[in-house]
Amino acid sequence: MKKHSIDTIATFAKRKGFIYPSSEIYGGFSAIYDYGPYGAELAQAIKQQWWKTMVQLRDDIVGLDSAIFMHPKIWEASGHVSGFSDPLTECRSCHNRFRVDHLLENIGQTADEKMSEDRINEIFDAHKEKITCPVCGKKDFTPVKKFNLLVKANLGNFTDDWNKDPVYLRGETCQGIYVNYKNVMDSMRVQIPFGIAQTGKAFRNEITARQFIFRTREFEQMEMQYFTAPNKEMEAYEWLKNYRWQSYLDMGISEKNLKWHKHENLVFYAKEAYDIEYQFPFGFKELEGVHARGNYDLTQHSTFSKKDLSYKDPQSGKSYIPHIVESSVGVGRIFLALLCEAYTEEDIEGEVRIVMKFPKHMAPIKVAVFPLLKNKPELVAKAKEIFDDVKTYTMCEFDDNGNVGKRYRRQDEIGTPYCITIDFNTLTDNTVTIRDRDSMQQQRIAITDIKQYLQQNIKTL
Ligand code: GAP
Repeated sequence: MKKHSIDTIATFAKRKGFIYPSSEIYGGFSAIYDYGPYGAELAQAIKQQWWKTMVQLRDDIVGLDSAIFMHPKIWEASGHVSGFSDPLTECRSCHNRFRVDHLLENIGQTADEKMSEDRINEIFDAHKEKITCPVCGKKDFTPVKKFNLLVKANLGNFTDDWNKDPVYLRGETCQGIYVNYKNVMDSMRVQIPFGIAQTGKAFRNEITARQFIFRTREFEQMEMQYFTAPNKEMEAYEWLKNYRWQSYLDMGISEKNLKWHKHENLVFYAKEAYDIEYQFPFGFKELEGVHARGNYDLTQHSTFSKKDLSYKDPQSGKSYIPHIVESSVGVGRIFLALLCEAYTEEDIEGEVRIVMKFPKHMAPIKVAVFPLLKNKPELVAKAKEIFDDVKTYTMCEFDDNGNVGKRYRRQDEIGTPYCITIDFNTLTDNTVTIRDRDSMQQQRIAITDIKQYLQQNIKTL
């Protein structure tokens, strides 16, 4: 199937109410995006499916919703204050800023996050001749500087000095899970192994805005941290890898567009780290991380908070700091993967039909209801009656604007799996036509069968 460019996807996403650039009437706001009406629905579907997979269907995982602001010491314990940075350089000619690891990647070189500023400068200098500015094409860059990605705020600071006792907008949601581990242990009937899952906003001062919603400064994460005994960590890790892979197939992503990427340079505490990558229009890139983190996180929080975060095994009576395997993904990344996966242009008798082939259960709108003619009050009244019923159990849209062919095309463009049309036969025999998005075939069914038909054909997990 033809791959479309990211610009085609972004333009389409704006035109059809999926994604808008932030603050557009003020000239935009770099690396921030808003979800339009259909985008908000699709994002909800992604989060609902994730929550169902990670919490509802699991007897061993509970949910959490921790605050965005947390004690600043948390970010010291986690290593974010000292080590959460990207290497930055500025083009002296056009003054655009770039991530040096990305510039090096373009010429087949690597700089990983563990390298010192000096080491990255050495590599950058050694290859400077080959590196041109992606914007103006010049070759004149400032020395590399590591730039911390945490976003600071002045919450609770009533002075003019923002750097005095800074608080941070969370850079990842999982820290809220680690610091609530003991609360969950104390208040819920959980025993190791168990997991805590949450979804929520995270913020990072990303240096470059690239690739539409792939890398943004405000984004929503979905993270699950699974607490295990030390000798069970890798068993849990294998389970989690398989479980997360399957969840993408269940979301309708084709397996040929997915692959595993193994991290070769692990941070010192990690046992193993893989990313699930998706084939975006700009190549295979990270969708989600699945990492075996050892007992680093709880050890750090235990040291910094001076609280005992060990677990006493009820059988053996032995205490240990639990090990953690994590699954972490951004809603926006799955959203973009689904847009790329679904966007299809078909030639129908010499005309281009744009159709979003979302899996039916992920589609923003599940059903559209049309009266055949808008100037026939009896058809409109019947269509409204059916619409008022269908909308009580699924996302439904009413449309009486333009001819029915145009209405079908509009629904195809947003991926609506079924369109129901009320015509003159409906008034006499209480049947409607129901048209399938993919086959474009219509069939007549009884009004009383609509709910059952939709339930059978829009299969959820
Ligand atoms: N707790 C681990 C963690 O946060 P990460 O690799 O920094 O690890 C995990 O982020 C996931 O969050 C990524 O795989 C990606 O899906 C998403 N993500 C990270 N930074 C992002 C950004 N700037 N914009 C959108 N999504 C992002």
